[in-house]
Amino acid sequence: QLSAEFPTVRPRRLRSTPAMRRLVAETRLHPAELILPAFVREGITEPKPITSMPGVVQHTRDTLRRAAVEAAEAGLGGIMLFGVPEVQDAVGSEGTNPDGILQQAIRDVVAEVGDQLIVMSDLCLDEYTDHGHCGVLAADGSVDNDATLERYAEMAVVQADAGVHLVGPSGMMDGQIGVVRRALDEAGHQDTGILAYTAKYASAFFGPFREAVGSSLKGDRKAYQQDPANARESLRELELDVAEGADLVMVKPAMAYLDVLRQIADASPVPVSAYQVSGEYAMVEAAAANGWVDRERMIMETLTSIRRAGAEQILTYWAVEAAGMLR
Ligand code: PBG
Repeated sequence: QLSAEFPTVRPRRLRSTPAMRRLVAETRLHPAELILPAFVREGITEPKPITSMPGVVQHTRDTLRRAAVEAAEAGLGGIMLFGVPEVQDAVGSEGTNPDGILQQAIRDVVAEVGDQLIVMSDLCLDEYTDHGHCGVLAADGSVDNDATLERYAEMAVVQADAGVHLVGPSGMMDGQIGVVRRALDEAGHQDTGILAYTAKYASAFFGPFREAVGSSLKGDRKAYQQDPANARESLRELELDVAEGADLVMVKPAMAYLDVLRQIADASPVPVSAYQVSGEYAMVEAAAANGWVDRERMIMETLTSIRRAGAEQILTYWAVEAAGMLR
């Protein structure tokens, strides 16, 4: 006899055992959709720890090569390279030096694991400029959009010449995807793809990255990166990037923008990636170091949430470790 006080529908049945939960999980993570961001610094002989990102280093060319092999062995889908040059100047000259640190690192990594991993490169000027902005400056100190596009076009070609599979324009200049696509095509690099930083917000979560790339930025990027208050303009950026030739689009940061990620995932005709950025990494590591949270559970929970919100690829500094946990 069923009492009216007791439920006839019992959702807990599907949560009852590990085997049942495994059977009904809607979201699964796979190492192939994880991408490891990695920093390589010119002129160092030992890897240099990044204080605000415990466990992450600025690599030498040599240790980067080894990290790339480790990433391939872990079954990751890709590696995203950032160069840290010895010399910065107003126009970011090292970014277009064919023998600049990033270009050398691309050649190294492509030679080592280019057949197993998709090799990607950050296409931006902030690592290379002495003022730390993502572009070249106009006389009044603002970032000159169209003059910056010319620099990006040149950067795209030297990175593609070095053999990169996907360039990642991350400077949020208007028209950057179209200009980069045209420059690549004109240089005969039709097969080099573009992972567009499409919805990129002026975010405090990039804080630790500034140390990672030795950025000298004073001020902020609010005149070119998006306002955290706005979601709708991300859809406009999506439309533009796709029309201009983006092969994949990205939302960044990830955790504070899962709603934006979901909207982009619902609307995008191309694969959608998300970047779990330096500050997201640092805040979990810091809380875990204090014994306040369960580090491994939190890593997997954050990655699962980003995947659930619609990301098909995730850039994360935990990529290798997470792949290990997924085994
Ligand atoms: C721009 C770039 C940034 C990040 C990736 N590409 C910094 C910025 O736009 O301020 C941030 C990545 C991170 O915080 O992990 N070159």
